[in-house]
Amino acid sequence: MTNTSNFPNQPVSIAELRDAMGCYLTGVTIVTVAGSNKTPYGLTVNSFNSVSLSPPLILWSLDKRNDKLPLFSEAGGFAVNIMSARQLALCQKFAAAENDRFADCDWYFGPFGQPILSNALASLECKPWAEYDGGDHTIFVGEVMSIEQTDGKAAAFYKGKLGYYEI
Ligand SMILES: Cc1cc2nc3c(=O)[nH]c(=O)nc-3n(C[C@H](O)[C@H](O)[C@H](O)COP(=O)(O)O)c2cc1C
Repeated sequence: MTNTSNFPNQPVSIAELRDAMGCYLTGVTIVTVAGSNKTPYGLTVNSFNSVSLSPPLILWSLDKRNDKLPLFSEAGGFAVNIMSARQLALCQKFAAAENDRFADCDWYFGPFGQPILSNALASLECKPWAEYDGGDHTIFVGEVMSIEQTDGKAAAFYKGKLGYYEI
């Protein structure tokens, strides 16, 4: 496979890595944040994972090309909303180019001031724990401060496609 990366000596190509990681089925989240002017921003994210139970830590990573990166570094927190099978349209909307992402969705400010999307399977409001360099992404580790939870089937992402999963 052709190595199309900017690092010609890297051991695997971007395409190979994308293909392999596409075989790893993940859930789908929308990570939300509100800056000092309280304007909400959010994007679809599947790089989310748990890190530690005590203290309660989670992580996700953001593309360094995203112009909202400084917002996440400065906002003093963020929320991870784990999407249900009924929210696939929202997952698409929060990944699409410029649109009014919060216009047709129910949301409210959580107890720590971050936007919470209604009817998510779970919403974890976090305060910043650490931020790491992750190559072309920045890794955000958050300490979970509050949790909202509902029941339902999970949104899923596999081989580049959104769907849902039920056990
Ligand atoms: C299923 C799925 C998972 C994604 N995961 C991530 C992620 O973990 N990190 C990231 O930076 N972008 C991720 N993206 C891409 C962003 O959602 C997308 O680039 C977003 O529109 C960027 O927001 P912007 O248009 O405001 O720059 C994902 C997209 C999809 C569809």
